[in-house]
Amino acid sequence: MPRKRASVSGRSTAALPDGPARRWFRGKLLAWYDRNGRDLPWRKTTDPYHILVSEVMLQQTQVDRVLPKYLTWIEKYPSFGDLAAAPEEEVIREWYPLGYNIRPRRLHSIAREAVGQHGGHLPSDETTLKSFKGIGPYTAGALLSFAFGKRAAILDTNVARVLFRVFVGSGDPKGHLTRRHLWKVSEALVPTRRVFDFNQALMDFGAMVCVARKPRCLVCPLSRRCRAFPFNPEKEG
Ligand code: ADE
Repeated sequence: MPRKRASVSGRSTAALPDGPARRWFRGKLLAWYDRNGRDLPWRKTTDPYHILVSEVMLQQTQVDRVLPKYLTWIEKYPSFGDLAAAPEEEVIREWYPLGYNIRPRRLHSIAREAVGQHGGHLPSDETTLKSFKGIGPYTAGALLSFAFGKRAAILDTNVARVLFRVFVGSGDPKGHLTRRHLWKVSEALVPTRRVFDFNQALMDFGAMVCVARKPRCLVCPLSRRCRAFPFNPEKEG
């Protein structure tokens, strides 16, 4: 009996992008990023602590609101050691006005674990990273690729939207099977060189071109081979 293919939104899963499609996507995306990528302070560092702070802040908050808080936070708590030594109430106060106070609590507990069990550093292997409460698959991928230079994939809402549109096209972008498939797509696409830039580029592209409501398809360098082009919001369940 032929093996069933996993179904994404009730239809056969699109195959993973082949070699030429991967090269096309990487080339177009990186060329776009070289011209349009945002100049952000967490892109000038590979310090795992700085990367973690930025990624936790960016989880539920827009870049322009994160920027000033990221800079004052790093000044007040320059390392895991400084953060771990601070009382929790102070850390939560310092987080204001970002909101979602579970995030500073998690950050604080990661800092205490890094200090208590790993000599004040984050480990660079995926399994140990994911064993920290508060480090899920996305944050692990961000740390591995941005701080440790590893060929690791990321998938957050913005990245999922880009990959869904380009390589799947229609259906429910948020379904469980779709999500699993998109992780595989993201893994297939990560290049061996410029991993840092590639993953940052995916995020900028999702925030600046392939945006949720009115994607800017007319200026999009991927539209020629995009499965969702011409864009029809009704096809995106
Ligand atoms: N959102 C999440 N991570 C980000 C990053 N590194 N740059 C811009 N936006 C992001």
